[in-house]
Amino acid sequence: MASSEPKLVCRGVWKIFGAGGRSLAGPSAARLTSADLRAAGAVGAVRDVNIEVREGEIFVIMGLSGSGKSTLVRCLSRLIEPTSGDILFNGENLLAASEARMIEIRRHQMGMVFQHFALLPHLTVLANVAFPLEIQGIERAAREERARRMIDLVGLSGRENAFPRELSGGQQQRVGIARSLAAEPELWFLDEPFSALDPLIRREMQDEFLRLQSVLKKTIVFITHDFDEAIRLADRIAIMKDGEIVQAGTPEDLVLNPATPYVAEFTRSVARAKVVKVAALMRPLNGTLPPASIRANAPVAEAAPLFSRGAETLAAVDGAGTPVGLIDRAAVVDVMMRG
Ligand SMILES: Nc1ncnc2c1ncn2[C@@H]1O[C@H](COP(=O)(O)OP(=O)(O)OP(=O)(O)O)[C@@H](O)[C@H]1O
Ligand SMILES: [Mg+2]
Repeated sequence: MASSEPKLVCRGVWKIFGAGGRSLAGPSAARLTSADLRAAGAVGAVRDVNIEVREGEIFVIMGLSGSGKSTLVRCLSRLIEPTSGDILFNGENLLAASEARMIEIRRHQMGMVFQHFALLPHLTVLANVAFPLEIQGIERAAREERARRMIDLVGLSGRENAFPRELSGGQQQRVGIARSLAAEPELWFLDEPFSALDPLIRREMQDEFLRLQSVLKKTIVFITHDFDEAIRLADRIAIMKDGEIVQAGTPEDLVLNPATPYVAEFTRSVARAKVVKVAALMRPLNGTLPPASIRANAPVAEAAPLFSRGAETLAAVDGAGTPVGLIDRAAVVDVMMRG
């Protein structure tokens, strides 16, 4: 579970590609539409983005192709230079950091995984995973020892001496994941890491990723254009459109209270009862306690069968079993029907 400590804060960040970008960005640019920018010969790829990524959470950025996701995530590590705004990492202003300091931060504190695996074709699995450690100047025995651990972590033990071309897409992406973890980053960026994989492998990789995260507890920014993937993985989701974040919240927030028709369109196909938590539908305790109970953080779908024995109301309980509210059959049915 994520703590509330912000690891990464992004305030008023703009990235305008094209001539005159810098003069267009800034507070007054908030009034510029994409059309204004286009007319000036510029593309507002990231427009006034404000987000906070908390320590230990999986923060998913979602949006259609061209909405600015990759540009934003590259701005966060300054692989792309933002046109304006502030980016604070552990409280340090990255836009004021020297290039040398940024290289240091990227090498030691940030990890990146991209959609196209970007492995070095002439190096073995072991050498690919050990590569970032070699760059750090770690001596061979130590870096290979750590690389072997990472290879084991992603389930590729035994394939250390294979070359990338000898691996399936899913296996290549595991190598990419192992490589990005080798340097033990605090902040882990993944840009559509599973999009090139077929659906079954993709699901397997998502499970694997959640298993890894339950052990490693990294702070993660994960990009996808797939809402199903987003709700499986995310603590919170930010939805991007035309360079702007149109809404950020828990999967539940987005499904229950979509801020715009665009967000509603993304969330429409999701079975609400699997996303919405009992806690979202609770009313306060009123002195009488129903005999049957359900965890407040369980999805509504799990509450439904308990009503089948004729109960009209259940007690919602916290992790310690203490009642924290009441949930009515009608509220559950409403969510299930609208799903
Ligand atoms: N170097 C560049 N120069 C000019 N425009 C760019 C550049 N890089 C990206 N863009 C534009 O910025 C916008 C956002 O692109 P970006 O790659 O961030 O989108 P995305 O959401 O990652 O899309 P996808 O899901 O296809 O990866 C697009 O309109 C794109 O054409
Ligand atoms: Mg992209």
